[in-house]
Amino acid sequence: MIEDLSTLDFAPLEQILEEYAGQKGAIIPILQHTQEAYGYLPKEVLQEISKRTGIPVSKLLGVATFYAQFRLNRRGKHLIRICDGTACHVRGSSKCIETVEKQLNVPAGGTSEDYEYTMEIVYCLGSCGLAPVAVVDDKVYGRLTPNSLVEQLEGLG
Ligand code: FES
Repeated sequence: MIEDLSTLDFAPLEQILEEYAGQKGAIIPILQHTQEAYGYLPKEVLQEISKRTGIPVSKLLGVATFYAQFRLNRRGKHLIRICDGTACHVRGSSKCIETVEKQLNVPAGGTSEDYEYTMEIVYCLGSCGLAPVAVVDDKVYGRLTPNSLVEQLEGLG
C-alpha cells in the first residue's frame, strides 16, 4: 500500500491499465485492482484512469460510491470496527470507543493522523454473547474493557 501521497506512484496503475486496455465494461475490475494496489482509490489515480481510458471521472466515482467495497479515502494500517449495538452499548462499548479516541488519537468514524488506525462504529457484529465486541483486522475481540482493547491495539505493531 502507498504510505505517502507525495510518493504516489503510477507504475502499479500502468500495469492495471495495460491489462484491461481496450476492454469495455472493465470499470469494476480496474477499480478493484487499483484499490488493491493503493489501499483506496486516490483522486489523482481516478483522474489518471479517466485520462487513459476516456471514462469520465463522474462515472468512475458513480461506480466507486455505489459499491461498498470501494474506498475513496485513505484508511489506516489497522481497521478497528467497534460495536455499539444494544448488547455492547449496555456493557460499556462507548467507554471503549472514547478510550481509543483519546489514547490512540483516532476519531470515531475516522483515521488517525499517522494513518495507523481507522475506527468504524458498527451496530451488532452478531457476537452479542461476547459483548462488548470489536473486530480488528478481521480478528474478533470480545468481553472488552477499554484497557484491554487499547493494549491489543498497541500490540498490533
Ligand atoms: S450488539 Fe454488539 S455484537 Fe451484537
